[in-house]
Amino acid sequence: EKGGYDHFMLKEIYEQPSVIKDTYRGRLLADKGIVRLGGLEDHIKRFTNANRIIIVACGTSWHAGLVAEYVFEDLVRIPVEVEYASEFRYRNPIITEKDVVIAISQSGETADTLAAIKLAKQKGAFVYGVCNVVGSTISRETHSGTYTHAGPEIGVASTKAFTTQITVLTMMALRLAKSKGTLSQSDYMLHLRELDMIPGKVEEALQSDEKIKEIAKVFKDAANFLYLGRGYNFPVALEGALKLKEISYIHAEGYPAAEMKHGPIALIDEQMPVVVIAINNNHYEKVVSNIQEIKSRAGKIIAVVSEGDTTVKEMADYVMEVPVTPETLSPLVTTIPLQLLSYHIAVMLGRDVDQPRNLAKSVTVE
Ligand code: F6R
Repeated sequence: EKGGYDHFMLKEIYEQPSVIKDTYRGRLLADKGIVRLGGLEDHIKRFTNANRIIIVACGTSWHAGLVAEYVFEDLVRIPVEVEYASEFRYRNPIITEKDVVIAISQSGETADTLAAIKLAKQKGAFVYGVCNVVGSTISRETHSGTYTHAGPEIGVASTKAFTTQITVLTMMALRLAKSKGTLSQSDYMLHLRELDMIPGKVEEALQSDEKIKEIAKVFKDAANFLYLGRGYNFPVALEGALKLKEISYIHAEGYPAAEMKHGPIALIDEQMPVVVIAINNNHYEKVVSNIQEIKSRAGKIIAVVSEGDTTVKEMADYVMEVPVTPETLSPLVTTIPLQLLSYHIAVMLGRDVDQPRNLAKSVTVE
C-alpha cells in the first residue's frame, strides 16, 4: 500500500504532482479563464464585503494559513489575520458578523480548530472550512468549504496536505480577486496558467532527490538547523523547520531572514547549517545579503535557488534547485526540497518517519 516507496511520507511527497492536479480538477479551467469552487460561489459577497478574514489552524495547516495571508492580501486586498486556533479560542477575540473565518485542517478533527470555529459561529462570523478528510467534524461544522482532495495522508508529518491546502486557498484568492477586480485580467490569466503548470514544476523539483540525499548525508548529525525565508517563503521556512523537528528530532527554527540580526545571528558558527530559500524574486538582493552575513560568521548555507541562478550558487555551500514560478505560487515548489531533506535526514538517523515519537495524526484533545 506504500506503492513501492519505503515510507508513506515519501509516497505522499511524490504524490504531490498528481494530488495538486486532483485538487484543481474541474475547478481551474485555465484556458477559459475560470476558477470555480462549489463551496465558494454562493458566498462570494460575504468574502468581498468582509472587514477582514481570520484564518485559524494548527501546525502545518497554520503555515498554509500564513501563505494564504500573503496571497489574499496581495491579490484580493482584504486584511487577513492568521491565528493559532488554541490562542484564538482563549483570548476573548474580537469577531463580528462582518468577519469571515477560514478554518484549515487536514484531518478535520483538530480539537482547538473545532473550538475556534464554534466560537466564531457564536459571534456571528461566516466560517469556511478547508479540509482534506471528507465528512470530518470540521467540514460539517463550517457554513461552507472546499475539500483539498489530497487523498488519505497516512504519514504523521503533513506533506501533500500542505501543498493542496495552498492550492485551494490560492484558487479562492483568484476567484475573489476576479469578483473584486483587484487583479488585472492579464495577471489573473497569468496566475491561472501558472497554477496549471505547478504539478509539472513540482515533478521537476522532485528530480533533485538524489542530490538532496547527498546534502542530507553531510548534515544529518547537526544538532541544530536554521531555516530562513522572506515574503511568501517565510512560512515555507517555518514549515521546513517543523518537518525536520518532528521526524528527525533535530532542533530547528524557522525565521524571517531579516530577523536574524535581531537575535538568532548569535547562534551562527561553523556548526550551524542554515537553509535559506533564496529564489529569484522581489527579495532576492536582500536574501543575498542575509546569506553574506551568515557566511561571514562561518555558517553553512544550504540554499533553495531558482533554476539558472548563479549568484547564490557561488555563495552557498549546497544548493537545491526549483523551477521558476510567480512569487505568489512559489511556496508550492520551494516546499518540496525541504520535505525531502527532512525525510532523508530522518531515515539516515533511523527514525520512525511515518510514526514519529509523541505525535498523533489527528489531535482530538487540546
Ligand atoms: C505537522 C502536523 C501537525 C498538523 C496539525 C494540524 O506535520 O502534522 O502539525 O498539521 O496537528 O492538523 P490538522 O491539519 O489535521 O488540523
